[in-house]
Amino acid sequence: MSSHWSTKDIPSQDGKTALITGANSGIGFEAAKALAEKGARVTLACRNQQKAEEAIALIKSSLPKAKLEFLAMDLASQTSIKNAVANFKENNSSLDILINNAGVMWLPKSQTEDGFEMQFGTNHLGHFTLTGLLLDTLINTPNSRIVTVSSLGHYTGKIHFDDIQLDKRYGKHKSYAQAKLANLMFAYELDRKLKAAGKETRSIAVHPGGSSTNLANPGFEKGASLFTGVAKAFFPYVTQGADSGALPTLFGATAQEADGGDYIGPSRLFEVIGAPKKVSSSRYSKREDLANKLWSLSEELTNIQFDAIA
Ligand SMILES: NC(=O)c1ccc[n+]([C@@H]2O[C@H](COP(=O)([O-])OP(=O)(O)OC[C@H]3O[C@@H](n4cnc5c(N)ncnc54)[C@H](OP(=O)(O)O)[C@@H]3O)[C@@H](O)[C@H]2O)c1
Repeated sequence: MSSHWSTKDIPSQDGKTALITGANSGIGFEAAKALAEKGARVTLACRNQQKAEEAIALIKSSLPKAKLEFLAMDLASQTSIKNAVANFKENNSSLDILINNAGVMWLPKSQTEDGFEMQFGTNHLGHFTLTGLLLDTLINTPNSRIVTVSSLGHYTGKIHFDDIQLDKRYGKHKSYAQAKLANLMFAYELDRKLKAAGKETRSIAVHPGGSSTNLANPGFEKGASLFTGVAKAFFPYVTQGADSGALPTLFGATAQEADGGDYIGPSRLFEVIGAPKKVSSSRYSKREDLANKLWSLSEELTNIQFDAIA
């Protein structure tokens, strides 16, 4: 793998279709722009129409021929995800690249429309449902890929099976770490299930290192902890731009060398910045028994079954 991989190395995406959650901002926006520049038709699945339309206009200002569409989707609502997938399927019979990117971080305790803890419900369960509902379309598209965005923060996480919604003891960092660990364990387990069912769709996990985006803003505004204050002060000095933060995602979505089951992150400064490379993850994240348990729990909570690979 080249240590200098950049958007210049993305092969032509002509004829390909991509769907990116949270594509109006940060890493998702940069990924949408780069894929559109290479010819892909990109669906921006976002919860805020105005922000999505502004993002589309911004990309089109430099890429007038970009093929971009807005899809209304709030990952904190299972009904919204189901409606969005139904709308998407009305207009699309194939999907080459699904990027499970959207995320919220360090929020005070709150709940999704369905009563799930907000960070776990949005970041993990929302994408679990989305992927499950799109799986048939992905499997029917040759060489398709599912890219799920995790975080270095997964290292501090565990899955609290005895208190999955953190009702007994909530912590905003604990909740984020659980959700991003769940993203990673989901991506690994999905890959194992796809392979066991003989499907060629690849499930690839990625993380952007540290990237200066809107992600930390809600936490910084509402959080009063020393941790968030210190993080805010140092964040601009140890992070990269969203365009660089999107490289692991783009590598996972397009590079031939990215295999199912890989985890891709930045190569320098303890994986905080730099060109993408294959990276490792916590021992906990590799526990197949726990990934299986998380999968069953996610099926139970969402009532979504992955029939094609069950
Ligand atoms: N930036 C980093 O250093 C970093 C590090 C590790 C991992 N990550 C991960 O990278 C991913 C992208 O984050 P980012 O840094 O690019 O942050 P960002 O600029 O805040 O983008 C997050 C995106 O997710 C969307 N989103 C949030 N809740 C949603 C919901 N309920 N339904 C639909 N969309 C929703 C946001 O929409 P709105 O604009 O409407 O809020 C926004 O488009 C996240 O999964 C994050 O955990 C980032």
